[in-house]
Amino acid sequence: MPAERSAAPILVASNRGPVTYSVRQDGTLDARRGGGGLVSGLSAIGPDAGALWVCAALGDGDRVAVRRGVSERGVRMLDIDAEVHADAYNGIANSVLWFVHHMLYQTPLEPSFDREFRRQWASYERYNRAFAEALAAEAAPGAAVLVQDYHLALVPGMLRALRDDLRIGHFSHTPWAPPEYFRMLPDDIAEQLLRGLLGADRLAFLTRRWADAFTACCDAVVGGVGATRIGVHGLGADAEFLRERAHRDDVAERAAALREQIGGSGRKTVVRVDRTELSKNIVRGLRAYETLLEDHPEWRERVVHLAFAYPSRQDLAVYRDYTAEVARVADEVNSRFGTPGWTPVILHVEDDFARSLAAYRLADVALVNPIRDGMNLVAKEVPVVSDEGCALVLSREAGAFEELGEDALAVNPYDVVGTAAALHEGLTMPEKERTRRTERLAAAATALPPERWFLDQLDALEASS
Ligand code: G6P
Repeated sequence: MPAERSAAPILVASNRGPVTYSVRQDGTLDARRGGGGLVSGLSAIGPDAGALWVCAALGDGDRVAVRRGVSERGVRMLDIDAEVHADAYNGIANSVLWFVHHMLYQTPLEPSFDREFRRQWASYERYNRAFAEALAAEAAPGAAVLVQDYHLALVPGMLRALRDDLRIGHFSHTPWAPPEYFRMLPDDIAEQLLRGLLGADRLAFLTRRWADAFTACCDAVVGGVGATRIGVHGLGADAEFLRERAHRDDVAERAAALREQIGGSGRKTVVRVDRTELSKNIVRGLRAYETLLEDHPEWRERVVHLAFAYPSRQDLAVYRDYTAEVARVADEVNSRFGTPGWTPVILHVEDDFARSLAAYRLADVALVNPIRDGMNLVAKEVPVVSDEGCALVLSREAGAFEELGEDALAVNPYDVVGTAAALHEGLTMPEKERTRRTERLAAAATALPPERWFLDQLDALEASS
C-alpha cells in the first residue's frame, strides 16, 4: 500500500462519486462537486475524521484526473477499464438491475438473459471486485464501510472474504422487487446477488416496503437473510440547505424569467422536475395534463405545466428514445391547445438547480407520478421551499408516499384520467387547506435530514456487529 494512503476508519463506496472532472480547452481540469443526500450526509463526519469515498472514474475527465494523480481530499476514484465499466454500469446495473427493481420490463420487452448478458455479468463481477479490493486496501482495522446501491451489490460478500474485521453496511437507494418479479433473473444470478448483499452485517433500505420485498426474495431464493440485519432509513430533505439556497439571487433571477415565460396574469403552474427516466413516468404525466385541459376547458389559458426533464443515461437507446418521446408529447400538447399568448407546456431539458428551485417556489401543484421510485426527493423538497403552499400530486408507488401520503393527493401512476382529476383537485384546493397540508408535508419531509440519515446508519452498523 503506498505510504501516503491513510487507513480510513469510515469508507463510503458508490459508482458516482461527489466530484466529476472535465478537461478544459487549455488542457487543465475543471472539478465539479455534485449534490444529493450522500454528499450532504457525509459532510456530518467532516473531512478531518479521515472518511474516504471510493467511487468510479466515469468519463474521460475523471480518467485524466486519476492518471495525473489529481484528487480531492477524502475521495479515491477507481480507473476501471472503460469497457468493463460500460458493461457493468450500462449493461447490467442500468439495463437489468434498475429495470428489475423498478419493475420496468413489460411485455413484449421482457429481457432475454443470453450469452451477451453473461459476458456483461462477468464485467459486473470484475467492477465489483475492483471496489472490494480498493476498500480492503484502504480500510483501517475494524473500519465501517457503507456500500451504496445496485451497482455494487456483490461488494459486501467480496469484501467480507478479503477483510473479515470490517463492519460492512449496504444501502439500496432503489425499490426492491417482490420475489415473483425478482426471480425473472436467472437463478444463479439471483442467488449471487442476494448472497453478495448478505455478506454485509447490515442492509438498509429507504422504506419498509422495499426491505420486506428484499426479505421475501431471500426467503424464496436462499432460505432467509441469515445473520444479516435489515434496517430502514427514510432519507429526508435538507431543509436548512434548501431554504438558504432557494433564496439566493440566482434563484430569484430564474423565477423572474420563468414568470415571464409563463405569461398571463394569475396563471397557475403545475411543476415537475425529474431526470428523464422511464420510472419517472413523464409521458403519462404530460398525457394527464392534456386530459385536464380536455376535461376542464376552464383551465385553458389559465395554467402552465413547467416540465423539467433532465437527460440521463444517454448511452442507452431506451433512455434516448424516452427523451425524444417526452419532447414529442410536450410539442403535441402545445400544438393542440397552445394559443399566441399561451404555451401550455414549458419543457426545459438543461439541468439547472437554481431554476428547479425557482419552479419549486412558484409551484401551485407539484406532479410526482413515478411508476416506482425508491424515495423521490422532489416530493420532499417542494413543500420545504414553496412560497405560498403547493398541492402535491404523488404516486402511491413512490417510497416518499409512506411518509407523505396523508397530505398528498394520491395517484395510481398508470391512471392518466385519475391523475388529471388529482391535478384539478390540486389546482382548486382552498388556500387554507393547501397551506395546512404544505406545512405538514414539509415537517414529514424533513424528519430525517441527510446528516442524521448517515449517522444513524453508522450507529446502527456499530450496534449490529
Ligand atoms: C438513482 C440511483 C443513484 C444514481 C442516480 C443517478 O438515484 O439510486 O445511484 O446515482 O439515480 O443516476 P446515474 O446513472 O446518472 O448515476
